[in-house]
Amino acid sequence: MLPPHFTFRQHNLHCEDLPLAQLAEQFGTPLYVYSATAIRERALAYQQTATSGALTCYAVKANPNLHILRQLGQLGMGADVTSGGELFLAQQAGIPAERILYSGVGKTRAEIQTALQAGIFALHVESAEELLAVADVAQQIGCVARVGVRINPQVAAATHPYIRTGTFQYKFGVPATEGVQLLHWASTHPHLQPVGIAAHIGSQISEIEPFVQSAQLLCQLASELRAAGVPLEYVDVGGGLGIPYEKTAPHPAEWVQAVAQVLAGAGLRLVMEPGRSIVGPSGVLLTRVQYNKRNPLKQFVIVDAGMTELIRPTLYQAYHPITPIVQSFRPTQVVDIVGPICESSDYLARERELPQVQAGEVLAVMLAGAYGFAMSSNYNGHLRPAEVLVEGGQAKLIRRRETLADLLHTLP
Ligand code: LLP
Repeated sequence: MLPPHFTFRQHNLHCEDLPLAQLAEQFGTPLYVYSATAIRERALAYQQTATSGALTCYAVKANPNLHILRQLGQLGMGADVTSGGELFLAQQAGIPAERILYSGVGKTRAEIQTALQAGIFALHVESAEELLAVADVAQQIGCVARVGVRINPQVAAATHPYIRTGTFQYKFGVPATEGVQLLHWASTHPHLQPVGIAAHIGSQISEIEPFVQSAQLLCQLASELRAAGVPLEYVDVGGGLGIPYEKTAPHPAEWVQAVAQVLAGAGLRLVMEPGRSIVGPSGVLLTRVQYNKRNPLKQFVIVDAGMTELIRPTLYQAYHPITPIVQSFRPTQVVDIVGPICESSDYLARERELPQVQAGEVLAVMLAGAYGFAMSSNYNGHLRPAEVLVEGGQAKLIRRRETLADLLHTLP
């Protein structure tokens, strides 16, 4: 099953109306290719399903390409940023400050100051000490900081432990009771304005129920706070909706409906922070086969992309569907698809059934639009790949491939 806007036409895999083979020739490999239409449709699923007044802040970390941020900003989306760097990118993409929220456990005072001076929608604090730091910086620069508190809702969701966040094993958020106390305290401080309560239970979660549970808790805490004289503006249910890498996942519209229903009638604005579910299925990584080789145990297909371009298989044993971009009717074999990096953990797929391929053929690693380029590196002297955005029959280079000169760029 291919994601929307990726189709085989006359045995050639296309992104929208362009054959991927043509893009691999024109721009080289490894190459990230995104469908602008797919991104737009998935973004609109959030924007249009949500109740009026809702704010969708795209999680920039999933794919921080400026052109993609700009496209999402033009659809009315905000940004969820997690560093001064992402704040800068969101601003460069023209996303208005009043739609930018800042999450993360370790904001520096310099980052807090920049965010306050920019006048962002809210800072989400994740500890009592951080709240004190925000109060202090706000006082120094003479402003009132709009703050939310991220709680850790104690909702365990089925996903890889490295991307699970909603229980006390993990560093994220504060316990609910502490969150309520912090918002209370903020309401008494002249330089703080408590505006929201947030949770994010993890990523690549393919059931709706844990999100509903977390949203219910947030609403309950907000209503306790209101009763205690601390009315909040919004509840932020986070991001985290999974995509169908291997098994099915709910559509964003279904997810939005479910969480919006929890808030119905509560007089609270709904804020969401989706990342993967917007860009993930909208992108592929093209990689060219270099060599085939076998040993007594295994058959390997060696390709020109590896953990430096897409680290998800290495880091989370993640599964991405992989297909030759020109359909062949050769017999299949079970192979490890591996990259050129000097690490045994450098693989894109293990024990995968793939039609026999020859050097020079191009493979598409599907659903690679999120946490793909974003987590790429120069390890082993690899140059980061180019990125191309396709709309209809048009392809636009939205990031050039790095050159050797880029490896020297930051040296004094
Ligand atoms: N909000 C917060 C506070 C987050 O930490 C994240 C993701 C999101 C929103 C967006 O979650 P999404 O909708 O994309 O699931 N590198 C990992 C995923 C790490 C997610 C980190 N936080 C991966 O490749 O699976």
